[in-house]
Amino acid sequence: MKLSTIIPFTSFALGAFALPGGLNPRAAPMIYLAGDSTMAAKGANDGATDGWGQYLASYVTTTVVNKAIGGRSARSYSNEGRFTEIANLVKSGDIVVIEFGHNDGGSPTSTTDNARSDCPGTGEETCKSGKTGETVYTFGHYVKAAANTYIAKGAKVVISSQTPNNLWEGGKYSASAPRFVAYAAQAAKEVGTGASFVDHFQAVANMYSKLGNTATNALYPNDHTHTSPKGADLSAQAFAQAIKVALNGTTPISPYLKAGNPTVW
Ligand SMILES: *[C@@H]1O[C@H](CO)[C@@H](O)[C@H](O)[C@H]1NC(C)=O
Repeated sequence: MKLSTIIPFTSFALGAFALPGGLNPRAAPMIYLAGDSTMAAKGANDGATDGWGQYLASYVTTTVVNKAIGGRSARSYSNEGRFTEIANLVKSGDIVVIEFGHNDGGSPTSTTDNARSDCPGTGEETCKSGKTGETVYTFGHYVKAAANTYIAKGAKVVISSQTPNNLWEGGKYSASAPRFVAYAAQAAKEVGTGASFVDHFQAVANMYSKLGNTATNALYPNDHTHTSPKGADLSAQAFAQAIKVALNGTTPISPYLKAGNPTVW
């Protein structure tokens, strides 16, 4: 065999002409999604319900990488290194959507702290876990820290408010936003350049108002938080529409929307 003599010559020849591909931005950005079960694939893991994240792929022209995990809050997603995992993947020009809130409530100072509840407040307040002594930060702290990390890598961040629960529960429409909706908007504002906000809660609330009682209740087979696959697809459509109309300002996703996406609200 002459491989030992051929290989060094070949690698030399390739090396002389190889381009530093790793330094080039991607041809099209990746959209990474960070969130909880309402965004994760098969959120409740029973087939009856699903998260909306992967359905977004049907409404955009670029690749969606759904990194959402059931049961997570901004705090636990951060502490488990999941924001960091995405930071290690993003390249300049990529887009990261951050959407939390369903699991962020509760009291971290309780002796039964569930490792998900954020410290109350919107700034740099801290508190101590009543169970482990861990220093706990606010929702805004965790989200802004993640956003700033991605922006430092040349990515853009879309902070999205949580989806609503079933707003027709009990047959009456009621749409008061949990505090994490305003917190998400505030976080995007405080991060500033590189971050934008989309009120997914409002978009889905508008859609449910239009769908009405029976059709909305039919999207919730198990509980008032997790929707059927159809409901997840509709939540993705409501999100895409919010991006299209720039519901709360322009976002970097809008150039990648497909033409002819459905109008659901
Ligand atoms: C997002 O924009 C819509 C439309 O103007 C508005 O109704 C909603 O309150 C805004 N969301 C937040 C959290 O400011």
